[in-house]
Amino acid sequence: MESSGDLTNQNPDELSAYILLSEFRKPLINLIIKSVDLPNGSTGLDAGCGIGAYTSLLAKAVGLKGAVVGLDISEEFISYANKNKRENTQFEIGDINSLDHLESESFDWIWSTDTVWPGPKELGCSCKKPKGIVDGFYRLLKPRGDIFLLFWTSHKFLPGYPLLEAKLNTSTGATAPFVSGMHPMDHIMSAKNWLVGSGFKGVLAKTYVSDINGPLDQNTRKALQILFQMFWGEAEDTVSKEDWNEYKKLTNPNSRKNILDRNHYYGFYTYSLFKGVK
Ligand SMILES: C[S@@+](CC[C@H](N)C(=O)[O-])C[C@H]1O[C@@H](n2cnc3c(N)ncnc32)[C@H](O)[C@@H]1O
Repeated sequence: MESSGDLTNQNPDELSAYILLSEFRKPLINLIIKSVDLPNGSTGLDAGCGIGAYTSLLAKAVGLKGAVVGLDISEEFISYANKNKRENTQFEIGDINSLDHLESESFDWIWSTDTVWPGPKELGCSCKKPKGIVDGFYRLLKPRGDIFLLFWTSHKFLPGYPLLEAKLNTSTGATAPFVSGMHPMDHIMSAKNWLVGSGFKGVLAKTYVSDINGPLDQNTRKALQILFQMFWGEAEDTVSKEDWNEYKKLTNPNSRKNILDRNHYYGFYTYSLFKGVK
C-alpha cells in the first residue's frame, strides 16, 4: 500500500487513520507471521516498523527468550511504539538506507512490511532503487538467516462494479508509489529479483488473502473509507463524469447506495510475502 511516511503526530487525524488501518490488517499480518514459523528465541529486525503494531506480533512469535528491534525513520511513530511495547522489544529511530551502526550478522531474520517501496520521496518512499537496502539487510543477517519482505499487492472493494473498479485502478493514486517512468524491476512484484540480486537463496513468493464479509462493523467501514480515499481519492480526472458520480454514490457514507451498507458485501485484499535465505 502507499507508503505512510508522512503520517505523523503533527497531524493527529492521520495518526488515528494509521492506527485504524493497522488494526484492520492485523488478523492477516498475524496469520502471515504465524505461517513463517519464526524460531522460538530468535532475534529479528522489523525494518520500517511504523507504530510497532506488527513488531509486537513478531515479538510474541519468538517468545520471551527472543528479541525484536523495531526501526523506523519517523520519530513520532517510534515514540508511539515505545509507549506500547512488549518486554522483548526495543525501538529505535533509523533509516533503512544506512544501518552501518548495526553489526554484521546480528539477526536471525529481518521482516519488513510495506516499507521497501521504491518511488518518489514526496510519496514517503524509502528509496529510489531497492538494491542498497536489500544489500544492507543481507549484511545484517546471520548465515542462513531469513529475509521477509511483505507488501500489499491487490484488492477488490467494489463488488458488482468490475468495470468501474478497473477504470479507477488506472489512476495514479491506485498504483502509487509506482509512477509512470519507473523501471519494471523497481516495482514490488519484482521483489524476487531484488532478493536474488543481493545473493539470497531459496527465493519464493506467496500471496495471502483477507476476506471482507458484510455486515461490516464501524471500524471496518472506516478503514475501507480511508482506503477508498487512498487509492481512488484523486481519480476524478482519470474516469468519466458518470463513472465518478457512480463511484461517489457507492462510497459516500451518507448515500443510500453506499456499498458498505450491504449485508452481503464481499471484498478482499492481498499481501504478498517475498522471502529468501542468506
Ligand atoms: C506504510 S508504512 C508501514 C509501517 C509498518 N511496517 C506497517 O506495516 O504498519 C511505511 C513505514 O516506513 C517508514 N519509512 C519510510 N522511509 C524509511 C526509511 N528510509 N527508513 C526507515 N523507515 C522508513 C515510515 O515512517 C513508515 O512507518
